[in-house]
Amino acid sequence: MVWLIRQERPFDFPAVHAVVASAFGRADEALLVDRLRTSDAWLPGLALVARPNGESRRNVVGFAAMSRITVGGRPALALAPVAVAPEWQGKGTGSALVRTGIVRAARGHERLIVVLGDPRYYGRFGFTAAIPVGIHGPYDAAGPAFQALVLPGDDPVPTGLAVYPDVFEGL
Ligand SMILES: CC(C)(COP(=O)(O)OP(=O)(O)OC[C@H]1O[C@@H](n2cnc3c(N)ncnc32)[C@H](O)[C@@H]1OP(=O)(O)O)[C@@H](O)C(=O)NCCC(=O)NCCS
Repeated sequence: MVWLIRQERPFDFPAVHAVVASAFGRADEALLVDRLRTSDAWLPGLALVARPNGESRRNVVGFAAMSRITVGGRPALALAPVAVAPEWQGKGTGSALVRTGIVRAARGHERLIVVLGDPRYYGRFGFTAAIPVGIHGPYDAAGPAFQALVLPGDDPVPTGLAVYPDVFEGL
């Protein structure tokens, strides 16, 4: 299966909401995306949609976004959410979205991405537990599920306290 990954556009918003809500089986993460889009933390170039090659250009089946946080007072990225419509899971969509996001972040000279999720999934992209590399924050209780990926670069890697935008509160 070949996936076409591109930046989301306003006409995707309803489809993205539906994909995220169906992936998580609840509305919380879809509402988070709606709130993030209107926040200062939103990075449109890192909000990506996926569709299978050959399908209508509006047939969005997956979504991934990275938004601005700080770690130790320095800029970093939070990957959240990653979501694939249930009927399309397990076919490589999520991996294509995450890998494309990482490449775009690296091209943008970002230095650090954090994520909260299953290490068995995010480990394949190079994420490792955040706390042992000196990053802590609101998800410390999640232990190894709170993960970080350092991107290549000359600047020092941000470490210290991860501060998320207010819109993440409650998740
Ligand atoms: C997690 C998710 C984004 C993965 O997307 P996907 O397109 O199904 O994943 P891919 O096809 O790229 O990869 C499939 C692999 O990931 C594994 N995987 C999928 N979801 C996983 C999870 N929650 N935990 C651990 N591994 C998972 C599969 O077992 C499979 O492993 P394999 O390659 O060894 O066979 C998708 O399943 C989803 O939307 N889940 C519900 C929402 C969610 O939990 N999002 C992540 C938290 S932000």
